[in-house]
Amino acid sequence: MLERAAPRERFTFRQIAMRRSFADDVRDGLEKSPKELQPWYFYDAIGSALFTAITELPEYTITRAETEILRRNSAAIARALRSPERVIELGSGDGRKTGMLLDALIARQPRITFVPIDVDGGVLESTARDFLARFPTLRVDAVCGDYREVSSVITPGLPTVVLFLGSSIGNSDPEAAVAMLRDIRRVLGQGDSLFLGADLQKPKEIVEAAYNDSLGVTAAFNLNLLARINRELGGQFDLSKFAHRAFLNEQKSRIEMHLVSRERQSAAIDDLRVQVHLERSETIHTENSYKYAESDLEMLARESGFAIEESWVDSTSRFADVLMVAR
Ligand code: SAH
Ligand code: AVI
Repeated sequence: MLERAAPRERFTFRQIAMRRSFADDVRDGLEKSPKELQPWYFYDAIGSALFTAITELPEYTITRAETEILRRNSAAIARALRSPERVIELGSGDGRKTGMLLDALIARQPRITFVPIDVDGGVLESTARDFLARFPTLRVDAVCGDYREVSSVITPGLPTVVLFLGSSIGNSDPEAAVAMLRDIRRVLGQGDSLFLGADLQKPKEIVEAAYNDSLGVTAAFNLNLLARINRELGGQFDLSKFAHRAFLNEQKSRIEMHLVSRERQSAAIDDLRVQVHLERSETIHTENSYKYAESDLEMLARESGFAIEESWVDSTSRFADVLMVAR
């Protein structure tokens, strides 16, 4: 008999403390030279809504390509994932692609515990509630916190698949990405797997357009970091004095996003009791988004204790999903 308990009986929500606060990271990042802000702070209620808007943009290829892979291959992927009892997702966001995978997994094995992990508690809760209503046999144990801490949250045991979709891996530097995957590998058993989405290298014009959309949504997403400092930390940044810049760093095979000061300026952050000085054209580095060759993914798997068992590429060869099995 399948349990079809009320959604609230199939749901837990756990908040795990961030190792460092927004205030501390902003203070330290803006004291550095060059200045930087950490990309996970993009995602408050406005940032998550802007990200969902980005996924709809004609220039942004990642979400469309991965959706195509999941739509065309969901049954084969579900088979390759070998009926897990637990599905952990790092940076689950609005979960639109995840729903397609859960559909296919639940068709094979209805008793699944879904563990979405996200820094934005709002998007996490709304995705969890959607899934509880949509999948009557699903348990959801949501975790609000930093996915880089995933190994401290997960108890070993159940046959598990970890989902890391949308090329979020690309927002970590290569060394940090390997460290994180090794950490995940430690809490998985042999035969458990990691299903990883990665944006592939592509011509400069295509990849740069994805981060410089004509509607200006990515610019707003980037500027929201300063708006968030204003909202939450008493910042006095005048957003009109900053420009969005995103370009391909070909040597490092990554898109870099920066906020560029349009003039020499100073702005207070009241709660931190600091005054931030910027020269004209000085930048705050806000995000990297690495683009991969298929050989990079093989190396990433090998160095972190996984082996690639199968991979799927979209029809334009712009994006790959790889199934890495714990060795
Ligand atoms: N997986 C979805 C969403 C990608 S957007 C997709 O493929 O479309 C990135 C998501 O990861 C956001 O929901 C953001 O809040 C979350 N996120 C970013 N950095 C994070 C971190 N360090 N820890 C936990 N969640 C993070
Ligand atoms: C979530 N992450 C994979 C996105 C990316 O493409 O690096 C975030 C993003 N930044 C700007 N646009 C989208």
